[in-house]
Amino acid sequence: MARLGILPISVLLSVICVGMGVAENWDPAAITVFPDHADFAAGLLPIETLVADGETLFQVKFNALDGAGRPGATGAGDPTGRREQPAQEFLRVSGPDASACSSCHNVPRAGGSGDFVTNVFAGANLQDPPVEAVDPRTTNERNTTGLFGAGQVELLAREMTLALFDLRDTARAQAKQRGTPVTVALVASGVSFGHLTALPDGRLETSNVQGVDPDLIIRPFTSKGVVISLREFTINALNQHHGIQATERYGKSKTGLSDFDRDGVDDEFSVGQVSAMVAFQATLPAPRQKFSEDPFLRAQEERGQTLFTQVGCSTCHIPAHEITTTTFAEPSPFNEYGTLRGDGQVATLTLPIEGFQGTVTAYTDLKRHNLCDADIRHFCNEQLVQGGVPVDYFLTAKLWDLATSGPYGHRGDLPTISQAILAHGGEARAEREAFLALDDTAKRELIAFLRTLGRAEAP
Ligand code: HEC
Ligand code: HEC
Repeated sequence: MARLGILPISVLLSVICVGMGVAENWDPAAITVFPDHADFAAGLLPIETLVADGETLFQVKFNALDGAGRPGATGAGDPTGRREQPAQEFLRVSGPDASACSSCHNVPRAGGSGDFVTNVFAGANLQDPPVEAVDPRTTNERNTTGLFGAGQVELLAREMTLALFDLRDTARAQAKQRGTPVTVALVASGVSFGHLTALPDGRLETSNVQGVDPDLIIRPFTSKGVVISLREFTINALNQHHGIQATERYGKSKTGLSDFDRDGVDDEFSVGQVSAMVAFQATLPAPRQKFSEDPFLRAQEERGQTLFTQVGCSTCHIPAHEITTTTFAEPSPFNEYGTLRGDGQVATLTLPIEGFQGTVTAYTDLKRHNLCDADIRHFCNEQLVQGGVPVDYFLTAKLWDLATSGPYGHRGDLPTISQAILAHGGEARAEREAFLALDDTAKRELIAFLRTLGRAEAP
């Protein structure tokens, strides 16, 4: 053992990897940046360096020496061992399914959305043994979402969550004081989430809470709205897509093992490396709208903007929310077990978002809706329950990057905006019919307006 100690680390790892069934390897590891969270939180190093490290990590093609692959673990967010090691390193459906985050998030550039070919099979990552068939009973097929402006979206979700918590806490205090149940309307940033009743003994009656989980935490990420923060998502994605395991969830302190996925690499991804990836995503500029230079076309687009509101699209796709926080504090105070939380577990990073003044122009209400009815069923294609959310409910899609984010819909199977609109039934049936009642010129104008969203080059 002592003799092994003098071998270069890469040789050591390749020896171990052979033992694990990975081919011999004379290549170097791909990860070249090892940022320390504490250094950046203490201001010893500039935040721009952390963001740059995060960009590097977002684009790096992880390999076995970095800890890519998870022969002994599934792609589940909750650390879950595998009974049998799969024969292949990459598996398209169950994952690991890509070398880098930017393999999927790449339109118009790293951090953006992706075409149908980058779809992910959510739920298949939980299967053991892994599945290779696309079966709606075991997977929900999802299209890659763009991350430009993602930090602003998380900040909006945090503020909305705090507003809902305030309403809940006030109702609870009143119920206790008065000795009678108190019902409160849950409204945050102009969005109604139904109501709840606080009972004098402190219990809550939540059966009329709508579009958000009964815990009132707005989960702004995934089309289902089941992930709280960029940090939580990043740790999930690292494991699911790449077999890279973050120590804060899969490491010794949480699982009792330094190499939970049994690929021969200990402590694969540090707190600082996760923070860097979050810093990159959270500070990505928001997509920007661009009207046509040509006055005739511009007038059409502007009329379309008015029609968008007149038709009622803006009731769910709320064009803008005003928030009070303009810098991104990482990590989120709402993170759950297995994702570091900003409550003293770790020093908080303060990330400035360039150009952000507090207006989030994402065209969403961050609420889940059911767009299906008896006739229109396009968005009800899924069968597998995720995060306890009924299968027909999805978060109102952000529209701020429509110019580049196609194909549309949570499965990415709608090439045009027209098709996406026609697929709206259920809670959006009236707005769909109002759109259809417009004459063709007006319909084209509304779509011309939507095509201005995200058309400008990112700054
Ligand atoms: C194989 C393609 C693929 C790879 C690789 C991938 N993603 Fe994604 N990403 C997706 C898809 C598909 C979604 C949408 C998931 C859904 O709606 O359920 C998504 C969603 C996200 C979201 C949520 C965005 C939102 O607004 O809801 C974040 C954040 C994210 N990815 C970050 C990452 C990071 C970080 C990595 C690398 C560690 C990564 N992704 C790797 C395909 C991919
Ligand atoms: C009741 C709320 C609601 C209303 C009203 C509504 N939408 Fe949507 N919209 C959604 C939801 C939810 C989705 C996500 C559907 C999915 O993929 O599961 C969505 C998705 C979309 C998409 C696809 C975006 C993408 O990137 O995949 C477009 C485009 C769109 N809506 C435009 C409109 C237009 C135009 C109107 C008005 C005619 C409208 N919506 C009215 C809730 C609504």
